[in-house]
Amino acid sequence: MSLSEVLPVVAPVEQAPDAAWADEVRALAQRRNAVVLAHNYQLPAIQDVADHVGDSLALSRIAADVDADTIVFCGVHFMAETAKILAPEKTVLIPDARAGCSLADSITADELRAWKAEHPAAVVVSYVNTTAAVKAETDICCTSSNAVEVVESIPADREVLFLPDQFLGAHVRRVTGRENMHVWAGECHVHAGINGAELTAKAEADPDAELFVHPECGCATSALYLAGAGAVPADRVKILSTGGMLDAARRTRARSVLVATEVGMLHQLRRAAPEVDFRAVNDRASCKYMKMITPEALLRSLRNGTDEVHVAPELAARGRAAVQRMIEIGQPGGGE
Ligand code: 13P
Ligand code: SF4
Repeated sequence: MSLSEVLPVVAPVEQAPDAAWADEVRALAQRRNAVVLAHNYQLPAIQDVADHVGDSLALSRIAADVDADTIVFCGVHFMAETAKILAPEKTVLIPDARAGCSLADSITADELRAWKAEHPAAVVVSYVNTTAAVKAETDICCTSSNAVEVVESIPADREVLFLPDQFLGAHVRRVTGRENMHVWAGECHVHAGINGAELTAKAEADPDAELFVHPECGCATSALYLAGAGAVPADRVKILSTGGMLDAARRTRARSVLVATEVGMLHQLRRAAPEVDFRAVNDRASCKYMKMITPEALLRSLRNGTDEVHVAPELAARGRAAVQRMIEIGQPGGGE
């Protein structure tokens, strides 16, 4: 008898979920021996019910190590695919397989093969926000937490192809000073929409605020320009991954912080430092893909074992070394 046949049929949750919903999620997860992972951009209810909440790198590391039969990935599809590549023997579920990513869609495996043919000696560094087919063509993956360390791990005389995010690529090039690094012109529609004009206006209106800026943002350059021009003291501008923002929130002495990333991040920041006033630079910066993981979808996923994520074994085998390199680099006490 399959698990879905023995589990009770539950009426769909239509309103904001309550304690009974959370209890049911926990009970179903226990019955499946499942671990529930949630990215920092998930809806607050999903973050609160998950076993672990984190950024792309932290969640990949957990997926690679976790002792559970099933991983329920509350995030977007490439994240669940990455978990499956790292843990092929486990069942990986995503509550809604339509949860894609505009950044991952900005390069195909064919386009990458053509780019590689133009630079045959280059090392390919792909952001984790890519499909399994692109990872299969990649030498090392990275996330926004360790992109700088990943590029620094490559001998200085080797050309680098960095993809697909142009803003993260520009940030890495600025920090590493690397000139032999080519950057693909992709972008995330949510982060690219957080622009420099809005950031400048908000920073000028609150001169004591710190600025937490995700490197995928179109405004990352403006933030550094503001710092360079002295409009905002340089030590108040922090270019950070979502996990890095949480560490900085716990350490900050500022009373207010302007946050340039997807708005789901505010939930964890406010929990980490309730005394700080965290405000979005753009409160319309919501990722519709992340928000497809609704409370109803999570319950359905745990009840029915849907949507299962599959990665063709041949593609997974070709991408695994690149993803493993990613989880090792920048690891406390390990990697480079
Ligand atoms: P991080 O959690 O790695 O900062 O990634 C942000 C993101 O946009 C994921 O889609
Ligand atoms: Fe992709 Fe952007 Fe959404 Fe992150 S916020 S999942 S990069 S579309």
